[in-house]
Amino acid sequence: MKRSSLAPLVAALFLAGGSGAAEAQDRAIERKVEALLKRMTLEEKVGQLHQLSGRQMTGPGSEKFADKLADIRAGRVGSMLNVKGVSETREIQALALQSRLKIPLLFGLDVIHGYKTVFPVPLGEAASWDMEAIRQSAAIAAKEAAASGIHWTFAPMVDIGRDPRWGRVMEGAGEDTYLGSQIAIARVKGFQGEKLGALDRVMATAKHFAAYGAAIAGRDYNAADMSEHQLHEVYLPPFKAAADAGVATFMNSFNTLNGVPATASAYLQRDLLKGKWNYKGFVVSDWASIKELVEHGHAADLAQAAAQAIDAGSDMDMEGYAYTRHLADQVRSGKVKQSRLDESVRRVLVKKFEMGLFDDPYRYSDAAREQAALNDPEHARIARDVARKTLVLLKNEQNALPLSKGLKSLAVIGPLAEAKRDLEGGWIVQSDTSRVVSVVEGLRGALPDTRLLVAQGCDVACASSAGFADAVAAAKQAEAVLLVVGESWDMSGEAKSRADIGLPGQQAQLFDALAATGKPVIVVMMAGRPLVFNNVADKAAAILYAWFPGAQGGNAVADVLVGDYNPSGKLPMSFPRSVGQIPISYQQYRTGRPVVNEANIVYRSAYIDSPNTPRYAFGHGLSYTSFAYGDLAISKPSMKRGDKVTVSFTLANTGARAGEEVVQLYIRDKVASLVRPVMELKGFRKLKLEPGERRTLSFQVDRDTLSFHNAKLQWVAEPGEFEIMVGSASDAIRLRGALTLSD
Ligand code: GLC
Repeated sequence: MKRSSLAPLVAALFLAGGSGAAEAQDRAIERKVEALLKRMTLEEKVGQLHQLSGRQMTGPGSEKFADKLADIRAGRVGSMLNVKGVSETREIQALALQSRLKIPLLFGLDVIHGYKTVFPVPLGEAASWDMEAIRQSAAIAAKEAAASGIHWTFAPMVDIGRDPRWGRVMEGAGEDTYLGSQIAIARVKGFQGEKLGALDRVMATAKHFAAYGAAIAGRDYNAADMSEHQLHEVYLPPFKAAADAGVATFMNSFNTLNGVPATASAYLQRDLLKGKWNYKGFVVSDWASIKELVEHGHAADLAQAAAQAIDAGSDMDMEGYAYTRHLADQVRSGKVKQSRLDESVRRVLVKKFEMGLFDDPYRYSDAAREQAALNDPEHARIARDVARKTLVLLKNEQNALPLSKGLKSLAVIGPLAEAKRDLEGGWIVQSDTSRVVSVVEGLRGALPDTRLLVAQGCDVACASSAGFADAVAAAKQAEAVLLVVGESWDMSGEAKSRADIGLPGQQAQLFDALAATGKPVIVVMMAGRPLVFNNVADKAAAILYAWFPGAQGGNAVADVLVGDYNPSGKLPMSFPRSVGQIPISYQQYRTGRPVVNEANIVYRSAYIDSPNTPRYAFGHGLSYTSFAYGDLAISKPSMKRGDKVTVSFTLANTGARAGEEVVQLYIRDKVASLVRPVMELKGFRKLKLEPGERRTLSFQVDRDTLSFHNAKLQWVAEPGEFEIMVGSASDAIRLRGALTLSD
C-alpha cells in the first residue's frame, strides 16, 4: 500500500490505541475499586460519603475540632470542603492516611471565578460571549487551586436564571439555554482540561441540579414548579452539556421541584442523570440539603432523610451528618440496600483513583507550585483581558465615550469609584484588595495627564445625601463627569434575593444632582444582576455595565472608557423596565392576542402601564464602531431529514476603529405541536473586524437546530416553516430568511 494510503490506517490504529489506553486505565481503576470495596467495613464505606467543612481545623483553635479530627483519622470522612493551601491540606490529608485503609481525602472548594486571581463574576463572563476567554479564566482558577491542594471545585453553576430578583443569577450564565450550555462546556473544559488527573486542573461540578434558578418569586431556596416540558426545554440542557463534556461531579439543589426536593428526586438523579444520561460521576449534596429533607417536610427524621437521599442517587452528604449518623444502621436494618451504598462509594473512589490520589495523596499540595501559580503575573494580565470583554456598553449618545485622552480634568464620582472589595464580587475564596485595581486607579493609569476630581457622593447604601454637594462641585469644575454606582458585592449571590432591584438608596438622586449641572454624565454601573434604573437610562449620556469585573476591573473599565479597548460585551440576561415584568426573557410566546399596539387594539397581551419589551434586551451591547450585515443566503429553501443547510451572510465593520461583534443566529418554528417561542438562540460567533473589513460568515442549520422537546419529551424537529434570523441582539435582527423542513 502506498505510504499516503497507510496514513489513515495508522491514524485509526493510533486513535483506537488512544481510546484503548483510556479503556484499559478505566478497567484497571475498576479492578482497584472492587478490590478496595471488598476490604472496607460498612462504617468505612459510609465514611467515604461524609463530607465535612474544615474551616480553621488546623493551627490555633483546632482543638475544638478534636472530634472531627478523630473522625478523619478513623476513616469516617471521605472529603473535606473549605480546607485550602498546601500546608493545611497536607496536615489534614496526613490524618486521613492514619486510617486503617489509608484512603485519601478529596478536598473541594467553591472556586467560582478565580482562586487567588479574582476574575469577573460568572454572569459578567457570560456577557463576553467569548468561550475561549471563559475557558481560560476557569483554567487559571484551576491552576492556582490545584497548586494549593484543591482537587475539586463546586463550579460551574449552570442554573438558567430569568428572574433578576434571585441573587444567584450572579453565579450563572443568564437566561438562555443555548448560551448557558456553551458556557457550561467552556467552564468544565477550563477547570478539568481534557482528562482528570493533570496537576494543574481540578474536578468540576455541575450545579445545582436542578431548576434552582426557577425559585418562585425569585426568593432563594424557594420551591420551583414547572411542566416537565419546560424543565427539559430550558433548565436541563446546560446540565446535559456539562455531563457530555465530562464533568466529574454534580451537586444537587436545595429547592423542591414539583413538590419533591431535588436531593430526594430519583427522577432527576437516577432516572435521568444516572439512567438516561448514563452519568458515571458522583452527586454531592448541597450544604446539608439531605438534612433539609426534614425541614422540607419530606422526611420524618434524619434517618429517613439518609435513606431517601441515597435511594434517590445523592452519593455524598455535604455537612448534613445524615449518612455518618444513620446510613450504616439503615443498611443493617435493610431499609437501604447494600448495593445502593456500594454504588455511591464506588463512584467516589473512582474519582479518587482518576485524580491519582492513591498514587500520591499529596500530589496537589506542592509549596513551590503554589508559590509560582499564585504569583504568576500572566494571570493578572489575562484577568484584565477577560474583564474588558465582559463590559457591556448599554448606551452611548453623541459618542460621549470613549473619553479623550487629552482631557484636562475628569470628575470621578460615586460609591464605587474607589471601591476595591466590591469589584471582586461574591463567592471568592479569599479577598485580597491589595491585588484589586479600583476604577479611579485604573483611570489614573489610563489618563496620566488628566486631573481626576474624586468625590464619593455617598456610600453604596446611599442613605444620606450629605456628600452630594461636594460631588456636584467636582462635576461643575471638571470637563467630563463619570459616575460609578451600583450594588455592593454582597447584594447578590446566595441568600441575596431583592424584591426591589433598583439602584440602592439615593444613588439615583445622586445621578440626578449631577445631571442637573447640565453636563453629560457617563455612568459605570456594577452589580451581580440586571438592575432597574430607568431614570439613569433616560438621562445618562453613556452607560457601561461592568457587573463585578474582578481584581483587574479598574484597569478593564479604564481601558474601555478611554478607548484602549472597544467594548464587545452583550447582555446574557434581559434587563426589565420594572420588577413587574419579571420573569422576563426574550423567549416570549406569540399568545392568541397581539402583543404590540397595532391599530389601537384594546385586547392585547400587554401591560396598560408599561411596554412589554425589556429596558435592554438579551444580546444587546454597543460598540465604538458599527457593523453592517448583508447578503443573507440560505443554501436551500427546503431541507429534509439528514440535510444540512448553510446560512451565510456578510458582516462589515463600517466604522473607524477595529471592533468585535457577536453575530447571533435565532430561529422561529412557526407552527408546531407545542407552540414555540418567537425566537430561540441557536448559534453565535464573536469575531474582530478591522475598520472597513468585510467577512462572509456562515452558520450550519441541521435537524437538531430545529428540534425541541415535544409533549412526550422526545427531541424532534417537526416539518413546517421556520424563520431564520441573524442579528446583533435579540431586538436587533438585521437579516431574515425562510426555511422549510419538508419531512
Ligand atoms: C452553598 C451553595 C453551593 C456551594 C456549597 C458549598 O450553600 O449553595 O453552591 O457550593 O454551599 O459552599
